[in-house]
Amino acid sequence: EQRRFFSRELLAWYMGNRRDLPWRKHRDPYFIWVSEIMLQQTRVDTVIPYFNRFIERFPTLQALADAPEEDVLKHWEGLGYYSRARNLQQAARQVVELHGGRIPDDRGAVAALKGVGPYTTGAIMSIAFNRPEPAVDGNVMRVLSRYFLIEEDIMKGSTRAGMEELVRDLIPEDRASDFNQALMELGALVCTPKSPHCLTCPVMEHCEGRLAGREETLPVKTKA
Ligand code: ADE
Repeated sequence: EQRRFFSRELLAWYMGNRRDLPWRKHRDPYFIWVSEIMLQQTRVDTVIPYFNRFIERFPTLQALADAPEEDVLKHWEGLGYYSRARNLQQAARQVVELHGGRIPDDRGAVAALKGVGPYTTGAIMSIAFNRPEPAVDGNVMRVLSRYFLIEEDIMKGSTRAGMEELVRDLIPEDRASDFNQALMELGALVCTPKSPHCLTCPVMEHCEGRLAGREETLPVKTKA
């Protein structure tokens, strides 16, 4: 049925189309975390060189915790939203003190880290630990609202919560890491905000938004 088709075809597409991004070369939870914080408000192409320089200078969570704050901020220069960098370092120090320097494979403990919200928690749990947790950001909401013709306002918490439940149901067993990244990748490369590339989309056939001719008018979003 529609859900199973989506999960199967999306994952198959991703395995053939995944970009070789630097944070996909290792499964170090620290690298995943740094990348997700950088990617929160910044595009992939911009993040890549920053990410590479950052992990070269701070190759471990311990190195980040030990560094002078101004050094961390210097490596963030140009990325903007500097509170992300300050929170990242403070959280690194939290991890050193509370968890011996290793990011815990525990949803509650990850969610408690400074600067880590529900999306980032889900991203770390799924990408780094392969736990079946949803990681629903704006890209993912766009994909889901189109495929399942969800017309609720994505600015509403209840809409996001509903989509998180939907993703829990969609994640194929033991494939949370690839599946969540596949969703992000589809949103970034195919199911784009304007003029989505439906003709190359692996799940177009059962996309309700497309079938209704609504792909360009979804998601529904009120002004923030
Ligand atoms: N955007 C947010 N997280 C991402 C990831 N892991 N890969 C690509 N784009 C992303």
